Amino acid sequence: MEDLAPHPGDLEPIETASRDEISSLQLERLKWSVKHAYENVPFFKARFDEKGVHPDDLKSLADLSKFPFTTKHDLRDHYPFGLFAVPRDKIVRVHASSGTTGKPTVVGYTAKDIDMWAHLVARSIRASGGRPGDIIHVAYGYGLFTGGLGAHYGAEKMGCTVVPVSGGMTERQVTLIQDFKPRIIMVTPSYLLSILDEFRRQGIDPRESSLATGIFGAEPWTNSMRLEIEEAFDMHAVDIYGLSEILGPGVANECVETKDGLHIWEDHFYPEIIDPETGEVLPDGEIGELVFTTLTKEGLPMIRYRTRDLTRLLPGTARSMRRMEKITGRSDDMIILRGVNVFPTQVEEQILKCDGLSPHFQIELSKSNRLDVMTVHVEALPGSSTIDARKTSAKELAHHIKSVIGISAVIDVTEPGHVERSAGKAKRVVDNRLKD
Ligand code: DLL
Repeated sequence: MEDLAPHPGDLEPIETASRDEISSLQLERLKWSVKHAYENVPFFKARFDEKGVHPDDLKSLADLSKFPFTTKHDLRDHYPFGLFAVPRDKIVRVHASSGTTGKPTVVGYTAKDIDMWAHLVARSIRASGGRPGDIIHVAYGYGLFTGGLGAHYGAEKMGCTVVPVSGGMTERQVTLIQDFKPRIIMVTPSYLLSILDEFRRQGIDPRESSLATGIFGAEPWTNSMRLEIEEAFDMHAVDIYGLSEILGPGVANECVETKDGLHIWEDHFYPEIIDPETGEVLPDGEIGELVFTTLTKEGLPMIRYRTRDLTRLLPGTARSMRRMEKITGRSDDMIILRGVNVFPTQVEEQILKCDGLSPHFQIELSKSNRLDVMTVHVEALPGSSTIDARKTSAKELAHHIKSVIGISAVIDVTEPGHVERSAGKAKRVVDNRLKD
């Protein structure tokens, strides 16, 4: 693979600033953000007052722990525009996330917010090995989802040529990659796997494609998946993280030269890790729920937003800003099976150990005689789909899941193409337990 590490001279000064410089910038910005939220959003004023805290109480970064959390429910309760901190006519764009139940969550951006967002996505693209002049194939969905447009404006800001393909029409994705020869692709890792299948179906060797790096996010994916993708395409696979409530893609990104977790762009977001049960702030290095406070956002400031994502904070390496470890999963996606906690990413790791299996999978939960049953539907690789080969793979996977995760799972190895695909975020868990 090509060495894509950016030239140190191309980095912004804040990317290599000292921790002291970063902390003092954060404190200055945090004071502004907390005050901005308090003075302009009645919800935040009421919440702070209820808790007996005032923006003036914030004298150090640690003082943030005195302030109340914000959750997705709060956004829903103020649907659609109730948490905006500027008059509606200063909002130049809204995005929304569908959510599984009820109303979507709506987020809004001022022109300055959009510019900051583009700037951070451009920084993320550079960290991933992109350079001005590169062609970027954007296969994140365009629309209310932040993936497509977020990536798009960042790529333009970087000075790249954007191919705004969006998700879907997989055959055409391959044609465009073959014809336009992008160096970079931005897409969910699960949809990239569908594009990979299509390359193979058309008899084209993906290793011969022009792609030098891929910027993958919007859903959890493992280091084993990274190796699988890098091997298949002979390209770098780098992780990008974000969420609409805080920004969209570009809250944190891995550096291509280290690939050791995602540097949080701490000059714009202040991260905390909390114990999800007690809400207590945990020290760096401990796993818990990631909480973000925006430091510069005008349209929709967020104070201590609970992401439900589980990870831990680690010191900076390729950049001075702290890293978050690759996300294990969302607390919402955690399966509790007969007392054992399981994340889909753990199942993904075991699948990738089995030679005869493809990485397309879905977990189904059901009840049998009042006991929870977990079935893993996974596809055989095209060359390994005879009945005997599928039986062997099923046994192998069941064994790995039992010995590593500690649970008995039913394994259903299907023929290639039989597991549900998505052109965006994969749906990894189908819970049929309540239906019985
Ligand atoms: O998924 C924004 C995004 C778009 C990020 C494109 C990266 C690339 P939402 O739809 O609001 O926003 O979903 C946010 O997706 O809380 C995580 O649970 C999950 N997620 C996002 N990036 C990653 C990642 C976008 N790199 C939710 N690894 C977040 C694991 C991720 N999970």
